[in-house]
Amino acid sequence: MTQTQPTQDELKALVAAAALAEVVTGELVGVGTGSTVDRFIDALAGIRHKVAGAVSSSERSTARLRGHGIRVFEANEITALPVYIDGADEIDGGGCMIKGGGAALTREKIVADLAARFVCIADESKRVQTLGAYPLPVEVVAMASAQIIRRFAAMGGTATLRPGLLTDNGHPILDVRGLSIQDPLAMETEINQWPGVVTVGLFARHRASLCLLGTARGVQRLVF
Ligand code: A5P
Repeated sequence: MTQTQPTQDELKALVAAAALAEVVTGELVGVGTGSTVDRFIDALAGIRHKVAGAVSSSERSTARLRGHGIRVFEANEITALPVYIDGADEIDGGGCMIKGGGAALTREKIVADLAARFVCIADESKRVQTLGAYPLPVEVVAMASAQIIRRFAAMGGTATLRPGLLTDNGHPILDVRGLSIQDPLAMETEINQWPGVVTVGLFARHRASLCLLGTARGVQRLVF
């Protein structure tokens, strides 16, 4: 008998459901952004009476949470979160990630910073040896974009403005291709120093402590 392989959407739903076990009863949960997180929010709706509410990383996730009757708190209203749950565009063997494909990287890093644990939910296509095949998103202040593009060129990367996009914070995003990111923490630290960089989509300081990876063989738990 031939077994059909799960689709990417099925793997996203699988890890989204598995992430419910990471939510702490009676507490707030930090919620990321993206198609995998959309599945998580839908699953969270089933246990909404067990959580105090959510802190959201985007207007998109806020609307979905509220649509399910889940109370959303501002980041400034709280001091700490037990867990933040979000997807990734790439994740490496140390739990470092590229994020921001959905343009929510700044608020994602802010909410992740409030959380004791970052649980990444992703299908197995996101697991890589070395970060950088996925274009690195960088939110920037518009007047600094040309200088930041030159800085990336000096680093071997080609940065282009994402057309027609402003983030929830009103800034453009550069997507940087051609980087091979051998030391994510060092690169994040360096890019953070450049004037006009709002947020680089490298999550090394705020790396995942756990990844629930959706595979054809089920959910794999990668502990970092
Ligand atoms: C949003 O800005 C991103 O960081 C997402 O978390 C990331 O792009 C993963 O999205 P998907 O779950 O849609 O792949």
